[in-house]
Amino acid sequence: MSETRELSAEIAQCQACSLAITRLKVVPGEGREDADILFIGEAPGWHENQQGRPFVGPAGQLLDDLLVSIGLNRSEVYIANVIKCRPPNNRDPLPAEIEACAHFLDRQITIIQPRMIVTLGRYSMGKFFPGESISRIHGVARARGGVLLFPMYHPAAALHQPSLRKILETDMAKIPSLLTKLTDVGKTEEKEDITQLTLF
Ligand code: URA
Repeated sequence: MSETRELSAEIAQCQACSLAITRLKVVPGEGREDADILFIGEAPGWHENQQGRPFVGPAGQLLDDLLVSIGLNRSEVYIANVIKCRPPNNRDPLPAEIEACAHFLDRQITIIQPRMIVTLGRYSMGKFFPGESISRIHGVARARGGVLLFPMYHPAAALHQPSLRKILETDMAKIPSLLTKLTDVGKTEEKEDITQLTLF
């Protein structure tokens, strides 16, 4: 079994917080183990909780469309979430839930070693840029620990606020050229541990 699949099997057994009681299926994440790009959303919603797969509802359809707009599909990237179980009624994740789940995301990053991490929405942005405002930093890439961090709005936000769709498209369109410029911050033996760097 691949390392990400082994980790997913472990995540599926997690009982660390009360979301284990209310969830239907755990949503560990999916995609290429050696993906260049890791997309990190917030938390599973209703559809994801049914299927055990990330971004398979309306927000996921928009994410798929955005990926296609830059010539990618979901099997070429890795898609994960800050927390792996659906909060009841899609409420915001609680700090204790984020904390209980953080080591899983850290291990996913360590295994995948993405060249670029795209955060979708404020919760995944908050992992790397605590205290920042998404309206201020979306679409601006910053290199850290040999990885390019690229904050974007959450696709679900564009479903509620159509003017954000254009912004998401514009930000997504920057990804291919950012990736081609990544040769100097790519996968190297000496790369710092990004998960350590995110512990502020
Ligand atoms: N929203 C998220 O943040 N993640 C999903 O997997 C689905 C919707």
